[in-house]
Amino acid sequence: MDQSTSTELSAVAVEAARAAGDRLRKAFRSRPAVETKSDFHDPVTEHDRAAEEIIREVIERRVPGSTVIGEEGGSEGSGEIRWYVDPIDGTANFAAGLPFFCVSIAAAAGDEVVAGVVYDPVRDDEFRADLGGAWCNDVRLRSAGATRDREAMLLTSYPTPRELADGGEEVLREFGRMLASFASTRRPGSTALKLAHVAGGWADVAYGSRVSPWDVAAGSLLVRQAGGVFIPLDGSIFEPGGYLAHVGGFDLAGSVMSDLVPPGRSA
Ligand code: IPD
Ligand code: CA
Ligand code: CA
Ligand code: CA
Repeated sequence: MDQSTSTELSAVAVEAARAAGDRLRKAFRSRPAVETKSDFHDPVTEHDRAAEEIIREVIERRVPGSTVIGEEGGSEGSGEIRWYVDPIDGTANFAAGLPFFCVSIAAAAGDEVVAGVVYDPVRDDEFRADLGGAWCNDVRLRSAGATRDREAMLLTSYPTPRELADGGEEVLREFGRMLASFASTRRPGSTALKLAHVAGGWADVAYGSRVSPWDVAAGSLLVRQAGGVFIPLDGSIFEPGGYLAHVGGFDLAGSVMSDLVPPGRSA
């Protein structure tokens, strides 16, 4: 795809993310009712569904016939351009009133993410990427920071209850090795915003297991277009699985995180 088409798609993503974000900003700290999906660790609110509807309406109007794959509404359409939509990434934070959540929207064609936006409506931070670069509020992003674990900030998630049930002690040992190795470790609760902050060089490494394509598609392009590295750990970005991302210049071979990267797998 040429760069100007990817720029047009990113403008559509921005329009959709800002429209949804306006609603989320107004609804923030309104103590929304929380329902659960698969179990009590998996919350959803009426605002997740409404924001996804707003995003689908903008995409369908601006790029008719697209395929849209959203966390709340499933997959619709069969067009060549595929949109991966997370209407609220960080629902638990949003529902509780913690200001760390975002709207994440990516466009993909074939096996490539070609445009993406991660919009933080509380800070009004618009992280946008296309095939020509990555920006935050129109300032070009350069993903640069620490080179070694001992100087680096790691953004991760905690092992999930399912992983603990499946992997037991080894999962906790692995988590302990990360805590011991990095200067600081945080669990902010929004995969897409974690990646946006690595793209900005405000954190050095991001890691997560068992995420979905709508969590990582936009953030992966932000990181790569800013000069950082994004590695899907279980195959494709477009399938559920783990990921590792880091700023440009980070010494992955010398990091405790290199144990998580299967041999032969790279960015
Ligand atoms: C979740 C967040 C969280 C990550 C989970 C995701 P949601 O997304 O990104 O940080 O650890 O794996 O499911 O459900 O809030 O959109
Ligand atoms: Ca969810
Ligand atoms: Ca998500
Ligand atoms: Ca979500």
